[in-house]
Amino acid sequence: MNTELMTVAYIGATILFILSLGGLSHPETSRRGNLFGMIGMGIAVMATLMGPRVSGLSNYAIIMIAMGLGGVVGIIAAIRVKMTQMPELVALMHSLVGLAACLVGFANFIDPSVHFTGSEKTIHEVEIYIGILIGAITFSGSLIAFGKLSGKIGGKPLLLPARHLLNLGLLILTLMMGQWFLKADTIDQGIVPLLLMTMLALAFGIHMVMAIGGADMPVVVSMLNSYSGWAAAATGFMLANDLLIVVGALVGSSGAILSYIMCRAMNRNFLAVIAGGFGTEGGKPATTDPTTPAGDVQPISAAETAELLRSAQSVIIVPGYGMAVAQAQHTVCEITKVLRNQGINVRFGIHPVAGRMPGHMNVLLAEARVPYDIVLEMDELNQDFPQTDVSIIIGANDIVNPAAQENPDSPIAGMPVLEVWKAKTSIVMKRSMASGYAGVDNPLFYKENNRMLFGDAKKMLDEVLANLAG
Ligand code: TAP
Repeated sequence: MNTELMTVAYIGATILFILSLGGLSHPETSRRGNLFGMIGMGIAVMATLMGPRVSGLSNYAIIMIAMGLGGVVGIIAAIRVKMTQMPELVALMHSLVGLAACLVGFANFIDPSVHFTGSEKTIHEVEIYIGILIGAITFSGSLIAFGKLSGKIGGKPLLLPARHLLNLGLLILTLMMGQWFLKADTIDQGIVPLLLMTMLALAFGIHMVMAIGGADMPVVVSMLNSYSGWAAAATGFMLANDLLIVVGALVGSSGAILSYIMCRAMNRNFLAVIAGGFGTEGGKPATTDPTTPAGDVQPISAAETAELLRSAQSVIIVPGYGMAVAQAQHTVCEITKVLRNQGINVRFGIHPVAGRMPGHMNVLLAEARVPYDIVLEMDELNQDFPQTDVSIIIGANDIVNPAAQENPDSPIAGMPVLEVWKAKTSIVMKRSMASGYAGVDNPLFYKENNRMLFGDAKKMLDEVLANLAG
């Protein structure tokens, strides 16, 4: 394939990636967005393989074997992974992007056929240095994020003494290594500072994510997503590959925007996240032991729940992580249909960090074919709770915790929450009195107008549906 044709293919792929991101911004168009992304990536890979950089039968053979192996691993992972484990898988994928950036950087540096002189040499080496630096941070940081999300590493933040000074020290050392690297004339001289910087960057990635509390991991995953994009963009500069630069920048900036939106949703400081060591300053440990109930709760049966719902005029359903675990979205949709057929105004309130990944609840509700126009963002309906008869909370906990507003000492203090307790009656569906992801007690359970429907969300909703139908 000649260079012109390759450029055309790359432009086509870039347009498809932009359309893909546009599509992914709304549940209704997200399938189409995914399809655009897949076609764009297919075109990009084909054009690169047929382009001038790849030649020789043995090279093709190696690439095909690698693609085959990678494809098989990817398919198995995609089939096996549960929806609730998606953030872990995403974190693991980011680590691979980081690792790839590092390996390409080293390969490029030691490649004897890559020859630059003067200012071009300096620019190329800066690209290599930055690519490996971001790649190594992304690699080790994502592995730690994977460990924390999958429970292999404890969620508690590791707070080393003088950790900010340590980070500053690492930064200064990295800059010094950079200077040493740029001054080196030969590959043998340059490889030493490059390897030392890689080790520093790996240590920084580990330290940065280890210092972050479990409840703040969603922001970290999306931040690492952004880092992986910038690592890819740096690799694009290194290889003079326009498509990689554009795609890297798209991933980097969309990840940064998502991190910002999530920070706002959790009332965190965006700059503090970028600097690392995030989520540890504000909030003290929970004052109550989350496993010990801090008051009396009023249980309710499925039949009574059905009765309350039937006599309501307006209902707001707030789904959370437990709905995903129980796979209760289809029953939720059936109940919604029955209630709407009886003229009851049913809406869904979605918190930006409900579940375990951005858009988790939207994906599940879309899969169950809940109409999009009754699925609203937290900000769109939070003011409607006082005029609501019943708010029903399905496997959600942190996102409806009034302590975020009422208790300045709570670890989730300041996080915007859905004000479900302002409805005439709130019903919380969960299996026990256990705390949610953030590990804090929830005063909602003990409120006068709150009822607890204990049990697996799917089982209890099936019973509610049977009672409604009866
Ligand atoms: P959580 O606070 O984690 O609460 C979920 C509740 O669901 C638990 O208290 C659990 O109580 C209940 N549950 C679990 N399985 C259930 C089942 N089969 N049936 C019924 N209930 C069940 O969830 P949330 O309110 O959605 O809040 C999300 C939390 O995750 C936030 O702290 C957020 O920061 C964090 N997080 C979010 C993301 C993103 S991006 N969305 C990513 C990582 C972490 P029982 O055990 O008593 O049933």
